[in-house]
Amino acid sequence: MILLILADLDNAIAKDGKQITFIPEDLARFKARTTGQVILMGRKTLENAGKLPHRITGVMTRKNLPDEEDLFYFSSEEELDEKLKAYGDRKIYLVGGAGIIQALFHRIEEAYITRVNYRSGGDVKIPSLEDDFDLVETTPITHKATEEHWIRKK
Ligand SMILES: NC(=O)c1ccc[n+]([C@@H]2O[C@H](COP(=O)([O-])OP(=O)(O)OC[C@H]3O[C@@H](n4cnc5c(N)ncnc54)[C@H](OP(=O)(O)O)[C@@H]3O)[C@@H](O)[C@H]2O)c1
Repeated sequence: MILLILADLDNAIAKDGKQITFIPEDLARFKARTTGQVILMGRKTLENAGKLPHRITGVMTRKNLPDEEDLFYFSSEEELDEKLKAYGDRKIYLVGGAGIIQALFHRIEEAYITRVNYRSGGDVKIPSLEDDFDLVETTPITHKATEEHWIRKK
């Protein structure tokens, strides 16, 4: 499972119920990576972002909701694994928010973090990667954002 998320210097991802910022170059990278693949998001993020075309979306929720075309719901890892069997050849991207990242953190093998170079004051934060992951590459995206590539320590 690959984490894909935009965060600030304090690991904040959202403020006042919205993503802290949108950067066109980051959105383009997100689209290129995830098109044709599976993205996993929390139910609150689905409500914010809506269903994205040209990919399979898995949504974590405790509610019992019916699956739709190219969109499935799951409330446990067992249910996720069962539903992912249909997409065995696709990459699995975990795209937020913080709730689902907390729940599935132990399954993340690799992470691409778009790190903006300021503190947003955001109140929704992801866990720090430093203890469990090695930072293997940083790639400038714009003057205010760098992509960090992390891989889980062996
Ligand atoms: N910066 C970024 O790149 C980025 C990316 C994605 C999202 N965001 C932002 O992050 C915010 C949302 O993040 P969030 O942490 O508040 O919400 P979230 O992770 O998107 O969704 C939380 C919901 O997921 C479900 N859930 C979480 N853990 C679960 C578990 N263990 N078992 C079953 N269901 C579980 C619950 O749904 P139910 O309540 O339905 O049971 C919970 O309310 C939004 O503002 C969004 O815009 C930012």
